[in-house]
Amino acid sequence: MTVTIKTPEEQEKMRIAGRLAADVLDMIGDYVKPGITTDELNKICHDYITGVQNAVPAPLKYRGFPKSICTSVNHVVCHGIPGDKKLKSGDAMNIDITVIKDGYHGDTSRMFFVGKAGIQAQRLADVAFDGMWHGIEELGAGKHLGDVGEAIQTFVEKNRFSVVREYCGHGIGRAFHEDPQVLHYGNRGSGMELKSGMTLTVEPMINAGKRHVRLLNDGWTVVTKDHSLSAQWEHTVLITDSGYEVLTLGADAR
Ligand code: MF3
Ligand code: CO
Ligand code: CO
Repeated sequence: MTVTIKTPEEQEKMRIAGRLAADVLDMIGDYVKPGITTDELNKICHDYITGVQNAVPAPLKYRGFPKSICTSVNHVVCHGIPGDKKLKSGDAMNIDITVIKDGYHGDTSRMFFVGKAGIQAQRLADVAFDGMWHGIEELGAGKHLGDVGEAIQTFVEKNRFSVVREYCGHGIGRAFHEDPQVLHYGNRGSGMELKSGMTLTVEPMINAGKRHVRLLNDGWTVVTKDHSLSAQWEHTVLITDSGYEVLTLGADAR
């Protein structure tokens, strides 16, 4: 697949899809409490996306994925499948929302804490968040994807955490996953040169222990090999001549 450059009309559709995805995360936060199951969170999000937003939850039936959102708890790195296990105080969870509106995708995820956050989980989530933003701040026409990867990797490793290599950010638009691949590690000046009108995601997965991951038998759930905690945040971003525009900011503007 080749990298797509979005026209101003397409960029506007990406803004709308991005805002809707962020709205879902803003909405679901209040429901993340001890005792609720990830399946119940999935249903609330599904009903909101389809019933209130008149949009489509992109994960549902995407390459066989069975649910409308991804819920990745504690040592789950990404692509956790909502299920009937109750969340308990101290759990840390990424919720990843992708909606399709008027043919265009918006993709964003955040960390949520159930009850009181553990001190290590909080620090890991903070480093993952700051790492994502260090990556985003590199974006702009004329910059290279390696600039993004190096910024994230350097920051994360300085904080003695590790960057997952097997999964990456991606171009996004009419398709959920478009070229280019956006690696969260790498070398400044290497990789594709960015152009105004590209839309892509930055979504580093950061482990408290080693970077290695394992895929569970369900074919989706990715966990840390050493069972250490993992954290992730994700934004969809438009490349502009002067830098970038984040399309999935929440109500709190982060
Ligand atoms: N939202 C994920 C991403 O950021 C992809 C999830 S694919 C699914 O790219 F099938 F698991 F939903
Ligand atoms: Co994504
Ligand atoms: Co996502």
